[in-house]
Amino acid sequence: MINLIKTNEHHQLIIEKKANSLHGTITIPGDKSISHRALMLGAIASGETTIEGLLLGEDPRSTAKCFEAMGAQISELNSKKVTVTGIGQKTLQEPLNVLDAGNSGTTMRLMLGLLAAQPRKFFTVTGDDSLRSRPMARVIKPLQDMGALIYGRNDNKNAPLAVIGQKLKSIHYYSPVASAQVKSCILLAGLMTEGKTTVTEPALSRDHSERMLRSFGATLEIDTDTHSVTIEGGAKLQGQTVIVPGDISSAAFWLVAGAITPNAELIIENVGINPTRTGILEALEMMNADITLENQRETAGEPVADLRVKSSKLKACTIEGAIIPRLIDEIPILAVAACFAEGTTVIKDAEELRVKESDRLAVMATELNKMGANIVELPDGLEINGGVTLKGSTMDSYTDHRIAMSLAIAGLNAQGKTIINRAEAASISYPTFVDTLIKIVS
Ligand code: S3P
Repeated sequence: MINLIKTNEHHQLIIEKKANSLHGTITIPGDKSISHRALMLGAIASGETTIEGLLLGEDPRSTAKCFEAMGAQISELNSKKVTVTGIGQKTLQEPLNVLDAGNSGTTMRLMLGLLAAQPRKFFTVTGDDSLRSRPMARVIKPLQDMGALIYGRNDNKNAPLAVIGQKLKSIHYYSPVASAQVKSCILLAGLMTEGKTTVTEPALSRDHSERMLRSFGATLEIDTDTHSVTIEGGAKLQGQTVIVPGDISSAAFWLVAGAITPNAELIIENVGINPTRTGILEALEMMNADITLENQRETAGEPVADLRVKSSKLKACTIEGAIIPRLIDEIPILAVAACFAEGTTVIKDAEELRVKESDRLAVMATELNKMGANIVELPDGLEINGGVTLKGSTMDSYTDHRIAMSLAIAGLNAQGKTIINRAEAASISYPTFVDTLIKIVS
């Protein structure tokens, strides 16, 4: 019923017909954000860092390659145990070639904070077609305020970028966007800089950097009222053991699949439920989804639970404001859920989606409308008129992992055959996605 056709260049995912039921227990891959940070902090710390549960997707592989090129020693990547031997008190080595962040905004933006602060070292950084079109001024500008020398295409807005490392000065940066990538970039630059560096953001974004920096030995002050984080420069990080929980952004596909498919019951094990990431659970609860959190626990400083989802009769809701950064990566799959909900779901304040791996607002509206959905694109969101019957169609991932997987879940609940071209994009964050899809359907 589900086939993946692999050619040399691309994969085509074919879903022959609507699923009648879904059952099973799912183990999701490690959290992408935490995987990047564990590799990076391990690379700059003294001694050994051990990472259990690392995401083996393309994005963390890009991070690992970049930091290996700058002197970190990283064992073969696997999800059991990866060992990173950091550079410790030394500065990062000047790489012999261009650093390639691939498709990964997190790799490029966080890494820039570290590169900018390596006096007299020269670095060039690039990425794939998607990443080279994504905005980098959001990190280059504040780094320049700290004294960084960074040059890039389009008047310093896009990669490829050249960085000449400098001794930076600490700043208080008021970010116009709630972005963990911007915040983390400045915090990493601040770690390398004398004095206290503060980032204030308009709403709270994911706080994995803050948690992990503390556990590696950095000193941070966090003001939750003003969404401000201050880091003291100069701390010497010490290698740690990091246990990476399952990625709630990957779990989201199964949460929605379970809720919208009839006769479904899925258990998703070991999901990270850090409060800065659980907007998806709150949104699905507003939509009436039958989801329960079981076996709640804490693993290496991050809260974790098993999630059980059952078929649900969804209703529309409005998603806007401070919850947006807490579910920013889940909006494509929420758009799918909204097609199956009674009433009109409105998503607002989500213009950031236009500068992700693709313009996720435009792409989701276009592709789901091809299936018979009734979605109106707003400048900063989507208006989704639910309760329609989706029909299988031929669609494209736009090489965006979350689009590929969201459309697959829509296809699972569409009448007739769905084809998703360039489905290999899923391997950016979820290399085993299709295997799990096949397992729970049959
Ligand atoms: C991430 C932050 C988010 C998110 C991305 C991962 C991170 O991006 O969309 O997938 O690991 O810090 P922004 O900070 O640009 O919103």
